Amino acid sequence: MSLRNQPDSYGSVAKWLHWLTAILFWGSYISVYYRHWFTQEETPANWTALQLHLSIGVTIGVLVILRIVWRLTNPPPPVEPGTSLEHFAAHSGHLLLYLIMVITPLTGYIGTGVNTDYFFLFEIPKFESTQAFVAIVQDRMGLTFEEFEKPVDFIHKEILGQWVVWILILGHVMAALYHHYIKKDRTLLRMTVTKKS
Ligand code: HEM
Ligand code: HEM
Repeated sequence: MSLRNQPDSYGSVAKWLHWLTAILFWGSYISVYYRHWFTQEETPANWTALQLHLSIGVTIGVLVILRIVWRLTNPPPPVEPGTSLEHFAAHSGHLLLYLIMVITPLTGYIGTGVNTDYFFLFEIPKFESTQAFVAIVQDRMGLTFEEFEKPVDFIHKEILGQWVVWILILGHVMAALYHHYIKKDRTLLRMTVTKKS
C-alpha cells in the first residue's frame, strides 16, 4: 500500500489520519456524554471522563494540523464522475469538516478553565495561564477569563458540539453511503481498500 495518495485511492497516511480522526470524534462524544449522563458531579469518574474528553479533543487538534499539512503537500485522488452540484457539495462539505476539526478543539481548549492531564501522562496548561491569554484576551481585549469563557463555551458546546458537528458528520456519512450503495462508485472504497477490484 502506498503512503501517498494514488490516482484511484487515498494512500495509507491519509486513510490512517481519516479513520483515526473519525474514531476520536466518537470518543470525544462518548466521553463527554458519559460524564453528563452516567456520573455524579465531583466524583473521580466525572473528572476522568472530562479529562478523557479534553485529551481526545487535543489529539484531534494536533492530528488535524498534520492532516492539513499532508493534504496540502499530497493532493487527493480526483473525484469520481458526478454533476457539478455533487462536486461542489463534496468540496464544500470537506472544507467545512476541516474547519470544524480546527475550530471545535480550539474553542474547547481556550474556553476550558482546567489543565488537561493528557491521558494521565503529563499536564497541558490551561489557556488562562498562558502568555497568549494575557497578551490577547486580558491586555488587548480587556476581558477576564470568566467574560471570555462564556461566548467561547457557547460556541463549543451549544453551536458546534450539539448541532453543527452532528449535521456535518451525518451528512458526510450519508454522502459516503449514497456513493457506495446508490451510485455504486469507488468513493468509499478509495478511503478503505487499496486496489480496484
Ligand atoms: C473535536 C473535538 C471536540 C468535540 C467534538 C467536542 C464536543 C463537545 C461536546 C459535544 C460537548 C458537550 C456539549 C453539551 O453540553 O451538550 C463538549 C463539552 C466540553 N468540551 Fe469539548 N469537544 C472537543 C474538544 C474539546 C477540547 C480540545 C477541549 C479542551 C481541551 C474541550 C473541552 C470541553 C469542556 C470543558 C466541555 C464541558 C464539559 C461538560 O459539558 O461536561 N473539548 N465538547
Ligand atoms: C463512519 C464515518 C465516516 C465515513 C463512512 C467517512 C467516509 C469518507 C469517505 C468515503 C471519504 C472520501 C471522499 C472522497 O473520496 O471524495 C471521506 C473523506 C473525508 N472525510 Fe470522512 N468519513 C467518516 C467520518 C469522518 C469524520 C468524523 C470526519 C471529520 C470530522 C471526516 C472528514 C473527512 C474529510 C475532511 C474528508 C476529505 C479528505 C480529503 O480529501 O482531504 N470523515 N470520508
